[in-house]
Amino acid sequence: MDKTKRAAIIAGNWKMNKTPSETTALIQEMKPLVAGADCKVVLCVPFVDLDAALKAAEGSNIGIGAENCHFEKSGAFTGEVSAVMLKEMGVEYVIIGHSERRQYFGETDVTVNKRVKAALAEGLKVILCVGETLEQREQGITAELVAMQTKIALLGVSAEDAANVIIAYEPVWAIGTGKTATSDQAEEVCAIIRKVVAEIYSPAVADAMTIQYGGSMNAKNADELLSKVNVDGGLIGGASLKAEDFSIIVKAANK
Ligand code: PGA
Repeated sequence: MDKTKRAAIIAGNWKMNKTPSETTALIQEMKPLVAGADCKVVLCVPFVDLDAALKAAEGSNIGIGAENCHFEKSGAFTGEVSAVMLKEMGVEYVIIGHSERRQYFGETDVTVNKRVKAALAEGLKVILCVGETLEQREQGITAELVAMQTKIALLGVSAEDAANVIIAYEPVWAIGTGKTATSDQAEEVCAIIRKVVAEIYSPAVADAMTIQYGGSMNAKNADELLSKVNVDGGLIGGASLKAEDFSIIVKAANK
């Protein structure tokens, strides 16, 4: 497995944080700190902040993403936003299947699959989240669980479209808890996911796929997590709301 074949991507997930004016201010602060990074830098922000984020990031190396999108192009889906709408705005990335969407908003593997396909059909790059709960880890079903989540999410996705998929392994017990997976745990599951992608498509597709770790990644532990051969980047929640911390993680990915 040759890590240099893959693009390292450090993506922020702002969740339900920051207003449009705060978005502009934070991106202005981040821009000089992450300029010249070797890895790709992405910020996924709330829908209402996308316009401000796109304007603030213009001409910089920061790509902008949304945190979800619906599977239909338009229609009677109050409160939802479609991939078509995101695309027209100039949004490049979209997170799909985050555990908070699964946990609090009834997302299932099936709706995740539909959203993945809708986003890819519009040419968006998908950050697909998979990961086990603490209970599932303790039951010893992590490997089967993430394999199943990955397989269902990618059902009907062509190998060509899979090139626009980034998978984020996010153990639910590590998200926002300050409890990070050890680098060996992250490596083990990222490697399992890569094996599953190889089975679905081919070793070449698996080799080229960026697989991130997410879950309390921060300025202190990023170096160690990102040193692992199958960990190609990070999906960062809390630490992506602080310009300095986020830029330290970006720098760790450059090494
Ligand atoms: P965290 O969130 O870094 O705050 O744990 C990660 C995520 O949920 O994507």
